[in-house]
Amino acid sequence: MSLSRGFNLVRSLTSVRRLTTSTPRLSDKLFVHRNTDPDVDKFEWNAENKKKAEEITSIYPEGHKAGAIMPLLDLAQRQHDNWLPLKAMNFVADYLKVPRMRVYEVATFYTMYNRQPVGKYFVQVCTTTPCMLRGGDDLFHHVKEICKDDKLFTVIEVECLGACVNAPMLQINDDYYEDLTLDEATQIINDLRAGKKPKIGPAASSGRQNCEPKGGLTSLTSPPPGPGFKVRPDL
Ligand code: FES
Repeated sequence: MSLSRGFNLVRSLTSVRRLTTSTPRLSDKLFVHRNTDPDVDKFEWNAENKKKAEEITSIYPEGHKAGAIMPLLDLAQRQHDNWLPLKAMNFVADYLKVPRMRVYEVATFYTMYNRQPVGKYFVQVCTTTPCMLRGGDDLFHHVKEICKDDKLFTVIEVECLGACVNAPMLQINDDYYEDLTLDEATQIINDLRAGKKPKIGPAASSGRQNCEPKGGLTSLTSPPPGPGFKVRPDL
């Protein structure tokens, strides 16, 4: 190599633009795809879920079966004590004939999929702004504390669960518990421990049935006008 070519090579190497990266965030989630449970060496649908999986995938046209990744991961998780071992993710990928990485991407992105074993009751406490303003942080720390030595419960902090109007709230498995005070949250946990089914939806003390305004209706308070309202008489 000539001297000038050598200089040019050095200059081009040293002038390579530096890439900047954002600071890595610490997380308690598992983002590597190894088998988390050595006892899980096989996963396949049980008879009931085999039928359900066929029904779900039949909704998606040929060439777009990958759209069924989310419902099938959910089905697999429900079959496997509410968490997804590597074998289950691989099974779903093979079932849909998609690259395994496509399934890993989905399973690690959404908090609804658990990559590690969880308790019988999976408690998600919302601390996003509306819930935070109504005591969501206190609720999260309180619930974490009262469940800390109990393997029956896994408690995590999550982003908005879409029930902001009844903040603060938490989700346990598929059920929402809303408008909560700390005492009411304790009662819910104690009821579950005792094998009872707590009332879902807004707490009784809130006086709400659903998500109506706390002080009573402020709009749509008059009877609805009948058919023909403000319509030309000749029509
Ligand atoms: S902010 Fe908590 S449910 Fe939306």
